[in-house]
Amino acid sequence: MNTNTIVRELKLLDCTPELLARFSRYQEVKRCWRKEDAKWVLKDISYVGQWDEKKKQSVIVSLFSCIQNGGRVVGAFIGDTLVGFASIDAKLFGSQNQYVDLAMIHTSDGYRNKGIGRQLFNVACEHAKELNAKKLYISAHSAEDSMAFYRKIGCVDAIEINQELAEKEPCDCQLEYTL
Ligand SMILES: CC(C)(COP(=O)(O)OP(=O)(O)OC[C@H]1O[C@@H](n2cnc3c(N)ncnc32)[C@H](O)[C@@H]1OP(=O)(O)O)[C@@H](O)C(=O)NCCC(=O)NCCS
Repeated sequence: MNTNTIVRELKLLDCTPELLARFSRYQEVKRCWRKEDAKWVLKDISYVGQWDEKKKQSVIVSLFSCIQNGGRVVGAFIGDTLVGFASIDAKLFGSQNQYVDLAMIHTSDGYRNKGIGRQLFNVACEHAKELNAKKLYISAHSAEDSMAFYRKIGCVDAIEINQELAEKEPCDCQLEYTL
């Protein structure tokens, strides 16, 4: 990771309308994972992911609500520019209340593949432990690149499926990570 990158917890006061001003969610997707007959298959599905200003503002509102409800948000900064962030909802779920949801993790386009996502994930794991979770639950973007990241850091198929999250994003891959 860039030695100038600082990862810190975000507070309510950080969630200003300018928080994502220089953040780029741009992602060119060419292939996505789909489960067919209980097997993962990589399919040719292409599109471009991007956030406009309206979407950025709704993400900032989600981060604010997350913190307000006891969850945690961590941000990676270079100077005062937010180059990555992750959020964990506070609510425990699962048969033994073992899971918390890693609701978001994103690194800005231009800063990817430099270790920022791994660092955000590691810090998010520490916060998840403080929230008394045993596992992180991830309703993960099915894009080839996104899934390559999750698999590389050790995420596996979720043992228990959170139906609410799975139904909200039916194309997502339901993953978990033992803390
Ligand atoms: C997925 C994402 C958060 C990863 O963040 P990142 O800062 O690029 O990740 P890192 O550089 O820390 O990578 C961590 C590990 O994953 C691997 N990895 C990351 N992207 C990869 C890719 N496209 N293909 C293969 N491996 C990849 C890295 O090589 C690294 O492995 P290493 O530590 O053993 O060297 C980032 O690419 C992103 O924001 N993508 C677009 C949005 C998105 O998909 N978010 C997730 C939505 S659920």
